[in-house]
Amino acid sequence: MCGIVGYIGDQRAEPILIDGLKKLEYRGYDSAGVAFIDDGAFHVVRAKGKLSCLIDKLKNMGSHSTIGIGHTRWATHGKPDEINAHPHHSRDVVLVHNGIIENYNTLKSEMIKKGHKIISETDTEVICHLIQDHLDQDMPFLKALISSLKKLNGAYSLVILNRNNPDHIYLARKGSPLVVGLGEGGNFVASDIPALLAHTRDVTFVEDNEIAVVSRERALFYNLSGDPVNKEIKKITWTASQAEKGGYKHFMLKEIMEQPRVLADTLLGRVDLEGLSVNLGEAGALLETMVREPEFRLKIVACGTSWHAGLVGKYWIEDLAKVLVGVELSSEFRYRQPLVTPKTLVVAISQSGETADTLAAIRESKRLGARVLSICNVVESSIPRESDATIYTHAGPEIGVASTKAFTTQMAVLYMLAIKLALEKNLLSDHEASQKIQALIEMPKLIEKTLGDLKPIMRMTERLRNKKHCYYIGRGIEYPIVLEGALKLKEISYIHAEGFAGGELKHGPIALIEEKVPVIAVVLKGQLYDKMVSNILEVKSRGAMVLALVNAEDKDIQSHFDEILHIPYADPDLNPFLTIIPLQLLAYYVAVDRGTDVDQPRNLAKSVTVE
Ligand code: F6R
Repeated sequence: MCGIVGYIGDQRAEPILIDGLKKLEYRGYDSAGVAFIDDGAFHVVRAKGKLSCLIDKLKNMGSHSTIGIGHTRWATHGKPDEINAHPHHSRDVVLVHNGIIENYNTLKSEMIKKGHKIISETDTEVICHLIQDHLDQDMPFLKALISSLKKLNGAYSLVILNRNNPDHIYLARKGSPLVVGLGEGGNFVASDIPALLAHTRDVTFVEDNEIAVVSRERALFYNLSGDPVNKEIKKITWTASQAEKGGYKHFMLKEIMEQPRVLADTLLGRVDLEGLSVNLGEAGALLETMVREPEFRLKIVACGTSWHAGLVGKYWIEDLAKVLVGVELSSEFRYRQPLVTPKTLVVAISQSGETADTLAAIRESKRLGARVLSICNVVESSIPRESDATIYTHAGPEIGVASTKAFTTQMAVLYMLAIKLALEKNLLSDHEASQKIQALIEMPKLIEKTLGDLKPIMRMTERLRNKKHCYYIGRGIEYPIVLEGALKLKEISYIHAEGFAGGELKHGPIALIEEKVPVIAVVLKGQLYDKMVSNILEVKSRGAMVLALVNAEDKDIQSHFDEILHIPYADPDLNPFLTIIPLQLLAYYVAVDRGTDVDQPRNLAKSVTVE
């Protein structure tokens, strides 16, 4: 999510760090900072906002040091301001961090009790104090680092300077990427390849549970037992623009592929790994007070993809927690007299946090006395700022205009919300909740598996590429997923696409079915399986070309389909996490095939801040 750079060599570090951070700007960030060791003292400069603000500050406060680290922050814990910006430091340790530390609150209390002063709201600053605490017990730096890492739960990539040793940069990784670039007369560190490419193409990747010590001459790697690890040097052949996209052709594909990781990030710190609890922070507290009201209702407001996530959420919340949920398009809600009261919790879902219609909907809700909970991806954007509580999706910057990873993480938050409400209402036993949470924790692995099977997508792409119309059908919780699948296809490939509930076909849409018209059907084992099979036979007998998403090894119905794509078996509640993946990929490959501008489709903007 955040951008990290580091340099140690025989040149001035400052321009190299700034240049590296500029190369990572495309990822989005809200503050930036750098740290150097100058004459045995840390020199830290941070600024809220764009890199130009940091550069302005450096004009008066620059450094001649030849060792330094830098960071662009995409806020997750704490607002985007200078105090929360990285690098963070203690007396002898300064560091930058990418990732999420789940147990930072517990560690923070421990450190404060021991007399450490922690001033930011981040989950990062405590790491400096943890290492410092070990150093204060006379541990050598590497040992202090390893002992501290063993206390961290969560994901991190860390780049660290030790005030007492201006000849080394220390790195550690678990979950978030980190790479060392090996250059002439100096070495480089970065979270992403683009930051290194101007200096070197020889790189070594830091793997999970590894640490590295980088000096001017070399990089040495160790495992968490302190034993040396031999590493391979790789040659990067990507162009700069390929590198920005992690080697993928488009941001959209990169973002689709990131879904296992960002889903895991969204669950980090919120679901207990033992599977027994759901911790939604301030939002959890708001839910706990409101859910006791006899007339408690939920009203979800959102637009586009976020609205589709809301529709999926309605199925889960009504089913598990028996709370009445209305899901409304923000643009409709804001211009009628919506029935919300102080007993209503309005849930606003927005990736950008700036969508004008959703912002207007929450303002109207508050005017009517409702409380507002937002589910948002951009920390401190307008919607969270105007909400009573927010649950952030930790999808990281989404750059492709068509929303993909934000959708998956929104669904994850809604599922946690449903479990939380059900637990509060005693509608789930601990055992049932634990099973559901375990199934959710399994999802990143199953998504990974789904992403690995591109052959059927390519066959389906071939069949769709020259079509003018395409229909999607699904039932139950897959109905919103087919709406989302159709939206993805229409917005980036410009093929006319519509999603229908299977049961609605006979009420109108079936009139559209003619020879060879493509119908994409989601037909998974479960309650509505037989009904979906009947719907498919209805369209098939009228000449439709049926491309189906079926459960792996579901041999019974395969003969009815022109193409089949296998979805792994999962808890049926959680199938939407798996079925949306091939629909995103299909839209992507069809659009690429038709030569459209995938990342910036015509007439669309990433953040719709006007009506
Ligand atoms: C579709 C898409 C849009 C957004 C919609 C809401 O791929 O990206 O439909 O989902 O404009 O945007 P947010 O979630 O930022 O409020």
